[in-house]
Amino acid sequence: MRTLARGHVAALRSLERHGRARRRPHDDTSAVARAGDDERDPAAVGGELENCASRRQRRRAWRPCGGGRERESEGRDPCGEHPHDLQAPGRRVRNVHPPPPGSGRPPGVRGVSPFRSFAAGRHSSRVQVGILTGGGDCPGLNAVIRAVARRSLDRGYGVAGVRDGWLGLVEGRFEPLRAREISGILPRGGTIIGTTRTNPYRVERGVERVLESFRAHKLDALVAIGGEDTLGVAARLYEEHEFPVVGVPKTIDNDLSATDYTFGFDTAVWIATEAIDRLHTTAESHNRVMVVEVMGRHTGWIAVMSGIAGGADVILIPEQPMTVESACEEIRRRHRRGKDFSIVVVSEGYELTYESGEQRLVAEKARASDQFGHVRLGGVGDALAREIEERTGFETRVTVLGHVQRGGSPTPRDRVLATRYGLKAADLVHEGRFGRMAALHGDAIVDVSLQDATAELKTVPLEWYEVARAFFG
Ligand code: F6P
Repeated sequence: MRTLARGHVAALRSLERHGRARRRPHDDTSAVARAGDDERDPAAVGGELENCASRRQRRRAWRPCGGGRERESEGRDPCGEHPHDLQAPGRRVRNVHPPPPGSGRPPGVRGVSPFRSFAAGRHSSRVQVGILTGGGDCPGLNAVIRAVARRSLDRGYGVAGVRDGWLGLVEGRFEPLRAREISGILPRGGTIIGTTRTNPYRVERGVERVLESFRAHKLDALVAIGGEDTLGVAARLYEEHEFPVVGVPKTIDNDLSATDYTFGFDTAVWIATEAIDRLHTTAESHNRVMVVEVMGRHTGWIAVMSGIAGGADVILIPEQPMTVESACEEIRRRHRRGKDFSIVVVSEGYELTYESGEQRLVAEKARASDQFGHVRLGGVGDALAREIEERTGFETRVTVLGHVQRGGSPTPRDRVLATRYGLKAADLVHEGRFGRMAALHGDAIVDVSLQDATAELKTVPLEWYEVARAFFG
């Protein structure tokens, strides 16, 4: 950080010496294209320095939590908590501020100008990029960190890891990410910079402290790698404070909108499928019904995909709540066909649903909830197995896969996806295109607005469930 401070001073002195005519380099869209020539282009250096100053002004323009627009948000869930644990999936769950009326700016490009050419023309003082991982860990996080850091370091930027998600920004805890720190981390599970489920909007002076420590550590941009909660905070900081952040979609749940897939999901599906394969052989040997509880929060992506891949006989997900009675009938039908074992995959967020219309969400007794208002799910597998055994008379056992689905090395597909996301995020930073998130559309890596990505959950569409249902019973 000291290096950066010195760099800024040197840059400003150099500006005074050269006395270059000030231009608005961010209006010059060719600045990025010329980045490679800037080393010898004094005009570009002048532009860079201009940006250095304008960027400072922008930072000063940030309003701390409790002032300005923040106050306007009172009465609109100021803590960022949302009640979607109690809602049907797929509903809008976030309360993100719309762009200012009449601003005329395309969504998500508000941060373009000052950083863009500032970054493109730098060679004397270093741009500092922060990287943060928030929410539940997920295979592929380190692959993203490596890609963002590698590309940023190649550009001559400095890279800092923010420790433990948003908590690290609240408390001002950082660590340098240099070539040696990111070496060998591609296949490693977890995250080398730690993660928490901290929501700065639920911490006293949380947002103010985030902005303060970002400034104090002289960061120029942040890459936030997370799911709907972490990126929801990023979207809100961008909307309310023009915080220079870009997002990378992470979650084993695959429930983020505006991207076809999140990284980590493929690994979780692979692990669950392998477990289902293994349970098949023991279920068959003992003539048992095996219930497999998988993660996924309020969406059934892991259940449906691993269930299809593993040949499950019944799959229960929150989006298409099959009744307990129908599930038991599918198992009986199968047994009538001469099969005396069955595999049932249930997503942790499935609510036990009965023909009477009653629905019951099984969550931990304490109903512990995190700073984003999520109850801790788990236990539906047990409850369902009891129902199946009592109603069908077939011996039934349960396997709860739990955090095994999040642990260990990412699949090749996740490593590649995470790497592509990381490079895209680094490029968005370089171009100063904040408020954006790297996303997968078909086979292409594109960028979408953070707001779109976090406005609602991406649920399993009926067509996917129909593929699974073709093999029930
Ligand atoms: O969002 C990822 C996820 O693994 C969910 O599938 C699950 O409900 C939750 O996180 C578990 O969170 P924790 O690690 O806090 O127990």
